[in-house]
Amino acid sequence: MNNQKENIPNHVAIIMDGNGRWAQKQEKPRKMGHEEGMEAIRRVTMQASKRGVKVLTLYAFSTENWKRPPQEVHFLMQLPIRFFDRFVPELQKNNVKVNMIGFEEKVPKSTKKAISKAMDQTKNNTGMTLNFAFNYGGRAEIVKATQALCEKVLKNELTSTDITPEHIEEHLFTHSLTPYQDVDLLIRSSGEKRLSNFLLWQNAYSEFYFTDLLWPDFNAKIFDEALFEYQKRQRRYGAL
Ligand code: FPP
Repeated sequence: MNNQKENIPNHVAIIMDGNGRWAQKQEKPRKMGHEEGMEAIRRVTMQASKRGVKVLTLYAFSTENWKRPPQEVHFLMQLPIRFFDRFVPELQKNNVKVNMIGFEEKVPKSTKKAISKAMDQTKNNTGMTLNFAFNYGGRAEIVKATQALCEKVLKNELTSTDITPEHIEEHLFTHSLTPYQDVDLLIRSSGEKRLSNFLLWQNAYSEFYFTDLLWPDFNAKIFDEALFEYQKRQRRYGAL
């Protein structure tokens, strides 16, 4: 891919968009797009792990996705069960650790059970963290952190003027990913160029990579292209 193995982004986050359009193009039901999307997750997870990425965060279900028709919401809620049933052995073989960020409320019990089982089975793995954002929304996450800090101020455990970015970070879901909470490279498939409420705080200084490929067509080669593009960027964090 390149000669700069040292400049691999620690945290890559992906908005896996275009499953529905992929299915439509093939004249198949939308759920076939999500089904193929799981294969793309498998391919990209293996490639990211091989390249030395530390955290791969995938936007699997947003707090806004509840607005979809009930049958599709139901199908999307079942995906973690099917995904982990199929892929945990391969994740184990590759030393990949599963993590989840998002709100537990409204997620069916059977889905939560499958998620915690996969997390438990892989908890001793020391390689890449495969982090699913499930029932996740960036604004709701910041509201959650704000509420927690207000509680501390009310209890006189903290003074409002002493609040720092670190205090906010402590109350974000991504605190569990320390020291890789911030996203280095954000990828979005399917030609859309928006953030869609994904890791709003954590993407403050990330590099963006967009591709027209629909998510089920995403592969190791395009992942490498995104890494290569990242390696050509100069990150200045506001300095000169
Ligand atoms: C966007 O396509 C993709 C999603 C809504 C997420 C799909 C989730 C997976 C593929 C796997 C989840 C797996 C686990 C383990 C949580 P879209 O339906 O928005 O596509 P469209 O924009 O073309 O309609």
